[in-house]
Amino acid sequence: MGERVAVVSGGGTGIGAAVARVLATDGFDVLVVGRREDVLKAAADRISWDLARPGAVRPVVADLTDPEQLTRVVEAVGDRPVDAVVNNAGGYLGGDSGTLAGVAAQWRANLDANVLTAVLLTEALRPRLRRPGGRVVLVSSIAAQRGGGGPYSAAKAALHGWAYDLAAQLGPEQITVNVVSPGYVTDTEFFGDRMTPEGHAKRVAATLVGRAGTPDDIAEAVRYLAGPAAGYVTGQVLGVNGGSVLGR
Ligand SMILES: NC(=O)c1ccc[n+]([C@@H]2O[C@H](COP(=O)([O-])OP(=O)(O)OC[C@H]3O[C@@H](n4cnc5c(N)ncnc54)[C@H](OP(=O)(O)O)[C@@H]3O)[C@@H](O)[C@H]2O)c1
Repeated sequence: MGERVAVVSGGGTGIGAAVARVLATDGFDVLVVGRREDVLKAAADRISWDLARPGAVRPVVADLTDPEQLTRVVEAVGDRPVDAVVNNAGGYLGGDSGTLAGVAAQWRANLDANVLTAVLLTEALRPRLRRPGGRVVLVSSIAAQRGGGGPYSAAKAALHGWAYDLAAQLGPEQITVNVVSPGYVTDTEFFGDRMTPEGHAKRVAATLVGRAGTPDDIAEAVRYLAGPAAGYVTGQVLGVNGGSVLGR
């Protein structure tokens, strides 16, 4: 058994799976949470096998927009303190914005997927966070800082304001709360079939380093913030975007 426990939402795919891998490599026991059991189990088995540490990563199936399903996460944690909660689940949800009902549905869906998932997971585990030393990381998006995603941008921006409050509330207990804001990252399910060669080229050209990000680029930032070296860093937004947005 590892000495530390991490919970990573959306840990079955993309950025979340990369985060689960680096944290498990650092010795955390990692719970990956998502809605699809087969996807979670495959990721958990793959990482645990690669590290030759059976059970290093374990799946928990839960829709984090549903308060009732959070009990599954709390039960899986058991009575161990939680060292790091990585709120990575989310995504862009499209919809029909031709009617007000459609607008309302799309906004609710984006707020649910990107804000409520993080709020409910963090609140469910808040009493279990290690004191002192717990870590909360929120994965937002460059879209929060420069727009471009409508309700998705707004939902991710909401995480920033909430992170500042949470950092103030938990700081006296030596628990840090920070945001990682990724730029364009490939090799995830995020874009589905929405990406075109032109869209890809435009996003790469917007970086200063001339390439797309990888899930590992983001995971390394989360690794730092979730680790012991970052104890004096809280209430911050760390952009990991190849220089697409500067200095904020
Ligand atoms: N890729 C990019 O360019 C990019 C850029 C900026 C920010 N981001 C953000 O980075 C995070 C990870 O995205 P990604 O690129 O790795 O895409 P991804 O592969 O689609 O990952 C999203 C994960 O969230 C999980 N999830 C979604 N809704 C959930 C819910 N209600 N309950 C539990 N789990 C849920 C999904 O699993 P299930 O479907 O099985 O539930 C999936 O594993 C997201 O928050 C995304 O907005 C991505």
